[in-house]
Amino acid sequence: MHIFNDVVKLQLALDSYRKKNETIAFVPTMGGLHEGHLSLVRLAKQKADKVVVSIFVNPTQFGENEDFDKYPNTLSNDKSLLIDNEVDVLFNPDADRVYPDGFATDIKLDSTEGILCGASRPGHFQGVAQVVKRLFDIVKPDVAIFGQKDYQQLLIIKQMVKNLSLDIDIKSGDIVRQKSGLAMSTRNQYLSTNEAITAANLYKILNELKQGYLNNQQLDLLINQAKKQLEHHFKLDYIEVLDANTLRQITDNTHEIAILSAVFLGPVRLIDNIIFRRKNV
Ligand code: PAF
Repeated sequence: MHIFNDVVKLQLALDSYRKKNETIAFVPTMGGLHEGHLSLVRLAKQKADKVVVSIFVNPTQFGENEDFDKYPNTLSNDKSLLIDNEVDVLFNPDADRVYPDGFATDIKLDSTEGILCGASRPGHFQGVAQVVKRLFDIVKPDVAIFGQKDYQQLLIIKQMVKNLSLDIDIKSGDIVRQKSGLAMSTRNQYLSTNEAITAANLYKILNELKQGYLNNQQLDLLINQAKKQLEHHFKLDYIEVLDANTLRQITDNTHEIAILSAVFLGPVRLIDNIIFRRKNV
C-alpha cells in the first residue's frame, strides 16, 4: 500500500493509474477503522481497479463542544487493516494540505441540511460537504463509497454530486452490526461494556417499529411507543419515519421508508436507521 500525505505526490500516483485506464474507487474515512469501513473497502474493490482510502479527521464538521480533540486515533492499526484488505493507496493528509492558506469554499446545500442530525449539529453537513468536495477534487475518483449508517450524509453527498454535475458514481454500503444489533461506529469505543449492551436497544426499538408498520399498525402510535422506549434507555435526540429518498414526510408516492434516530447515551451520540420498501406501493 502506498501512503501519501502530500497532495501532488498522491495525484502523480493516481495519474499513473489513469494513464493505464485503471478506474479509481474512493473510500473517505476519519480513521478509527472497524468492520463497517472494511465492508466499504471490499465494495470499492468490486467497483474499480484501484482503491484509495483517506484518513482525515475533518475539523470543520465538528461543533465546538464535540469530540474533535479526542476522536479515536488508531492509525497504525488502521494501516494494518487496510494492507490486509489490499487497499492500493492511503491518503493521510495534515489539515494544512486539505485546507491550504486562503482555502475557502461553501457548498450550497438544500433544506435537508437543517433537519435531523443537521438540527442538533449546526454546520456539520456544511463541513462534511466541504471536505468531501475537496477530497473529490484531489482524488478525482470514478466511484466513491459511503456507509448507509450516516444516511443523511449519504443523501446530502448524492445531492451535492448532482447539483455540481460531478462525474462520480456514489455507492452506499450496508450498515454492519455487532451480534447485539448495535451498528458499528468508531464512537462505540467510547462506550463501557454495560453501555454497549444498553446501546443495542436502539436497533431493537427501530426494528420493532418497522415490524409494527409492516403489520399495518398505526404509524403515530408506533412512533410514540418507540419514543417512550428510547427515552427509557437514552436521552432522545430524534426519531423520524420519512420518505427515504427525500427525507420529507411520507406521501402516496413514497416507495421507500427510512426510520432514522439519534440518541445520547451519556455524552455519546448514537445514530442508526433502517431503510425498507413500503408494502403495496
Ligand atoms: O463519514 C465520515 O467518516 C465523514 O463524515 C467523512 C465522509 C469521511 C467526511 O469527513
